[in-house]
Amino acid sequence: MMRDPAWHPSFPDVGSAAGRCKSSRTGNEAGERSRGTKIEPGRPPRYIAHMTSATPAPLGAKLPILMPPHPSLRARTRRVAPSDMDQVRALLPDMFATMYAAPGIGLAAPQVGVGLRFAVIDLMPDETPAPMVLINPEVIRVSEDWAVREEGCLSLPGQYADVTRPARVAVRYQDADFATHEIEAEGLLAACLQHEIDHLDGVLFVDHLSALKRNMLLRKLAKERKQMAAQIAPQTAQG
Ligand code: NI
Repeated sequence: MMRDPAWHPSFPDVGSAAGRCKSSRTGNEAGERSRGTKIEPGRPPRYIAHMTSATPAPLGAKLPILMPPHPSLRARTRRVAPSDMDQVRALLPDMFATMYAAPGIGLAAPQVGVGLRFAVIDLMPDETPAPMVLINPEVIRVSEDWAVREEGCLSLPGQYADVTRPARVAVRYQDADFATHEIEAEGLLAACLQHEIDHLDGVLFVDHLSALKRNMLLRKLAKERKQMAAQIAPQTAQG
């Protein structure tokens, strides 16, 4: 997911859900944090961020971000098995470096040509890094009410549109230690989680739009890329 100032409303308190989880924020809503409850319309906002002890420092190499019509963006990913974890852990610093450099708030493995089910997110609440590693994430519950939010995508640079999604979601995932977590989210985090999980199923945010709007955005992207290539070509020819 692209980073955009318009997506940065003041971020509510993020508290830890369980003792083993660290959080970048200390504010909390005691009593609002029992696990496994249903998400119901009208429930007070509840943000739970799970940080992992193995969260990598963003010191990796910048990877090229793929754009349509690259087939990697349209392929379903394979679930990460414990035997894949060495490969995943080796890629995480590069994924974070790529996302922060873009800059973006989320990056899924298919966007860098990796066909495994994992993604990284950092919403940078209050400009403070809060990296999340999401391995095998899946939406396990959704709210009945919907929310509209403007989205972008690092694979569709410069393209933005309002996307309608469930307002709140519960997501189960494994962290970089392959420990399983469940989080409930709303607002920007809910949209970002759904956007990244979509990527792992070969779905782009433009797929949530009408065919007319989707084709318009994809054509605009192709045109802009062509113009950019034309501008760069003479310079590289001289160099
Ligand atoms: Ni994206």
